[in-house]
Amino acid sequence: MTKTIDLDEQARDILKMNDRGGYTIPTKGLYPYQWNWDSAFAALGFAQFDCARAWAELETLFSAQWADGMVPHIVFHKADPGYYPGPDVWGGTGPIPSSGITQPPIAATMARLIFEKDQTLGEEHLRALFPKLRRWHSWFMQWRLDRGAVCVTHPWEAGRDNTPEWDAPMARIDPTDVGEYVRRDTQHVDGSMRPTKYDYDRYIWLVQMGRRLHWDQQKLLDENPFRVADPTMTFTLLRAQRDLLAMGQMLGLDVGGITEEIEILEQGAQTLWNPELESFDARDAHSGEWANCVSNASFLCWYAGLDSEGQTKQLQRVLDKVQYGVPSHDPESDKFDGRRYWRGPTWAVMNLLIGLGLEERNHPLAERVRIATKTLIEESGFSEYFDPTDGSAAGGQGFTWTAAVWLSWAGRT
Ligand code: GLC
Repeated sequence: MTKTIDLDEQARDILKMNDRGGYTIPTKGLYPYQWNWDSAFAALGFAQFDCARAWAELETLFSAQWADGMVPHIVFHKADPGYYPGPDVWGGTGPIPSSGITQPPIAATMARLIFEKDQTLGEEHLRALFPKLRRWHSWFMQWRLDRGAVCVTHPWEAGRDNTPEWDAPMARIDPTDVGEYVRRDTQHVDGSMRPTKYDYDRYIWLVQMGRRLHWDQQKLLDENPFRVADPTMTFTLLRAQRDLLAMGQMLGLDVGGITEEIEILEQGAQTLWNPELESFDARDAHSGEWANCVSNASFLCWYAGLDSEGQTKQLQRVLDKVQYGVPSHDPESDKFDGRRYWRGPTWAVMNLLIGLGLEERNHPLAERVRIATKTLIEESGFSEYFDPTDGSAAGGQGFTWTAAVWLSWAGRT
């Protein structure tokens, strides 16, 4: 009991420590700016003790929304020379210096959860945010669909930077003209826990291409060799659209077109079912090839409102294989690496989304996912991610989103 109270306090302290006034950084040093989905999680964390601050987090994020509706993955409110690639490398064209790509659209879902905490306070905020959320979702529908599934155009967009799902499409990029650059992430965290130079060259090459094309979506559609229909984006957008529809109806707002978009996404989600793998999977939009990966994003189907017996079997299998699930990559695959970022480690935030979906559908594995997450945080603290084989802490420490997961879900008594 004492331990839980301590952890509640520690989690609140982490949110306050990483608060930069209206927005929260993921962690000092490694990630000194506002990140899109990190902020949405942070908002949910704040909502457990300060709903006004939670709304401010989302409002600051949407103040960086571009004219075309895109909401960037990083917002560079104040310069920080310790981070690469910074605002000059990205050359974002929005109202505030930012990156030129987006991240999984979970803001609408988090807004709904925050609204439910305090409807009186929330109504005005939600009314103002609703059209911005709608524009962001429409941007995805306009630019990112492949057979109704949602694509990423840079590995960073899915928020799962170096997952093996990107290996084949990344191999197609020739980054010889990328030039010299100095990575900063490996100055903060051990290189063995971060993406390799092979990956990093390609990340930067894609950023340089986007900047050269002024982040024009039509041109990117024509030129970008990296375009992958991805379970993270597809399932989170489908869920976000359902929440947007529900909130709009509740407030008596214009929700025209959302139902049709949900249908498109539902069909799109089914196109990500890989029958041979017997799992939801990523698909290269250029070649049509499967990634053949069971990742933690495969398990977001319940969060998107879709049941799947096949996916339940996969979840059971991976949870039986490692003690501290849900691993970001299949522990029985030869690409599994328990400490390297999105190639094996367990991420509390993914578990939160997976767990919420399972709970809502009264799934028998729901509590197992929550308890695994709770145990990880109790034993190893608020780190960025965890080794699923022994539960040890990995990556950055004092991490905002892990604290938010604790307050809003994992630490529940
Ligand atoms: C890494 C993660 C991404 C996250 C960011 C900030 O790039 O892969 O999901 O948003 O760090 O925490």
